[in-house]
Amino acid sequence: MSIKKIVCKDTQEIANLAAQNFIEIIKKRQNPLFILATGSSPILTYKNLINDNNVNKTSWRNVRTFNLDEYVDLKEKYVSESYRNFMNINLFNHIDIDKKNTFFPSKNLIDGKYDDMISDHGVIDLAILGIGNNGHIAFNEPGTSIDSKTHIAYLDESTRLANSRFFNNKLEDVPHAAVTMGLSTILKAKKIILIATGTAKKNAILHLCQAKEFDPKWPCTCLVNHQDVTIYIDRDADLK
Ligand code: GLP
Repeated sequence: MSIKKIVCKDTQEIANLAAQNFIEIIKKRQNPLFILATGSSPILTYKNLINDNNVNKTSWRNVRTFNLDEYVDLKEKYVSESYRNFMNINLFNHIDIDKKNTFFPSKNLIDGKYDDMISDHGVIDLAILGIGNNGHIAFNEPGTSIDSKTHIAYLDESTRLANSRFFNNKLEDVPHAAVTMGLSTILKAKKIILIATGTAKKNAILHLCQAKEFDPKWPCTCLVNHQDVTIYIDRDADLK
């Protein structure tokens, strides 16, 4: 196993280091392919990338992106909470990417369809991940198989509670399901980076760093089977 752990002094340092991974690949590869995450963890990294695109002109014109997940059956009044909207607001609207090259999973793209779409586009250069307090990756909740492909996932109550902050703190308004890229697809990325901050993530990070093999109770431990994983965490998320 080769998980590299980098403990940073603050979220800005995490974002600087994480963004560098994207910039290096964009400069090197003709048609980079990225897996992107939503959630609060990658927001500052995306800000850095927007700044780099605007100031240094690192161009996203040939970049293709596949997002990890999307809610199913969002209530009308919460359409702005879709992950597509999140990505538009936090990244795509501010860089020179062609939105035709940005993809999201949906109910119509299960049973291997989203996964085939990704492999038809070539090799995944980089995946950026967050992590749930319960160790979920994307919406691969505890119990998910390591062979999973893009599928409909039923959200853990702890995940719905954590995400209720985006739904006026009304648990009843948080969707019960999402479509998520499976663990096997995520593991196909050549390089994986994961961001975690705050004490709520400590237990999940502890399980990830101590795992010797995949433990379905902690989906994040699938990463021990990968050759190139770097986790960027702050001191609060670090095991003491
Ligand atoms: C959500 C997302 C995940 C994300 C996780 C952590 O449930 N589906 O992709 O990694 O929560 O979110 P945050 O970064 O806001 O803590």
